[in-house]
Amino acid sequence: MAATDLERFSNEEKRNLSLGGHVGFDSLPDQLVSKSVTQGFSFNILCVGETGIGKSTLMNTLFNTTFETEEASHYESAVRLRPRTYDLQESNVHLKLTIVDAVGFGDQINKDESYRPIVEYIDTQFENYLQEELKIRRSLFNYHDTRIHVCLYFITPTGHSLKSLDLVTMKKLDSKVNIIPIIAKADTISKSELHKFKIKIMSELVSNGVQIYQFPTDDEAVAEINSVMNAHLPFAVVGSTEEVKVGNKLVRARQYPWGVVQVENESHCDFVKLREMLIRVNMEDLREQTHTRHYELYRRCKLEEMGFKDTDPDSQPFSLQETYETKRKEFLGELQKKEEEMRQMFVNKVKETEAELKEKERELHEKFEHLKRIHQEEKRKVEEKRRELEDEMNAFNRRKVAVETLQSQSLQATSQQPLKKDKDKKNFFSLPSACSITSGRHVN
Ligand code: GTP
Ligand code: MG
Repeated sequence: MAATDLERFSNEEKRNLSLGGHVGFDSLPDQLVSKSVTQGFSFNILCVGETGIGKSTLMNTLFNTTFETEEASHYESAVRLRPRTYDLQESNVHLKLTIVDAVGFGDQINKDESYRPIVEYIDTQFENYLQEELKIRRSLFNYHDTRIHVCLYFITPTGHSLKSLDLVTMKKLDSKVNIIPIIAKADTISKSELHKFKIKIMSELVSNGVQIYQFPTDDEAVAEINSVMNAHLPFAVVGSTEEVKVGNKLVRARQYPWGVVQVENESHCDFVKLREMLIRVNMEDLREQTHTRHYELYRRCKLEEMGFKDTDPDSQPFSLQETYETKRKEFLGELQKKEEEMRQMFVNKVKETEAELKEKERELHEKFEHLKRIHQEEKRKVEEKRRELEDEMNAFNRRKVAVETLQSQSLQATSQQPLKKDKDKKNFFSLPSACSITSGRHVN
């Protein structure tokens, strides 16, 4: 290859060449269609609206079938998301349709947290998809994609304005899902009131910065119809699965004593417009927007939260490997810091326990010394007592001996001078030693 050719190719310049004959890659779109048809499609609709607003009836009317429905009670303590998946087939196209009902929406006295379970449900589906994408062995080909492609927001036909619950909920959801607002039970509102109501709703959405799904106008094939339909938002719909004879035709309608509201009559309501926009024209765009806009935003925030980034602070490309290494270092650093903190904590604890033990030991020692002093005092007292008793015993013994001596002397005297008995007796008692016999202390 010549040097100039090489330069040209390295700068990624492309040359237009013409083919000499039929090659066959013009069949690529057909191959794609065939592959998609074989694979089947999934579409997930979230219905948000107060209990009994007509969600199930509208779903049945839209898909012309009867899905399982359970009337929700008005006594749910919190909003609960109930998904149900169905396999539908039209011609050779398989559709895995999931309808998620926000059961109990608007029934709680305190509605501050009503939006939270809905946001959490949407995020969980994104998270599941992200986890599948991050797996080493991914199976996105046959993964059941449960991400919500569209949220049909049922507005109560009050004719006044949106409720703050509607505005708050839609605001919380608008960056996560394609919202199509619809006025439910539109047969209960008069034509002139409906017109004003639509204008009011749209101006309230704009003034509160709520982004609703706009039917795309960049594809020439659908640009015109989509831009016309954008002007009709929010669609005012009527749902019914009941068939009523109008002329010689059976049509789905709601029959009243004063007349019949035909679901598919465009002068009666916007049901046909909704079906056209939601299913027949923009279903693929809703799926694509979910993936390229809402999921992408979730993924970016999540990965950034985890520390991944595309460029470093100097705006240089930053690879996944580098992010991993940086994160690993950060993690190891943190681990070391934690280890050091724990070691320090342990040392402090040991020191504290040691000090406590020492204090206890000192207290015990003091107690022991105190007891020892008491014991010695007691011992001294007992010793003193013993000495006193011994002294008393000695004194007693001495007195005893003295008495015995006197007794023996008196006996002797009695036997020698029996006649002078009385006189001697008197003498004896007058002797100072006799006094000392009665009082031991004088003996000493
Ligand atoms: P839950 O699932 O219990 O929250 O109710 P829902 O929102 O699914 O409402 P559902 O479709 O069960 O309808 C409740 C009642 O409203 C039924 O009696 C329906 O016949 C009636 N209904 C449904 N759609 C319309 C409508 O477009 N106009 C009028 N007037 N009534 C409707
Ligand atoms: Mg229902």
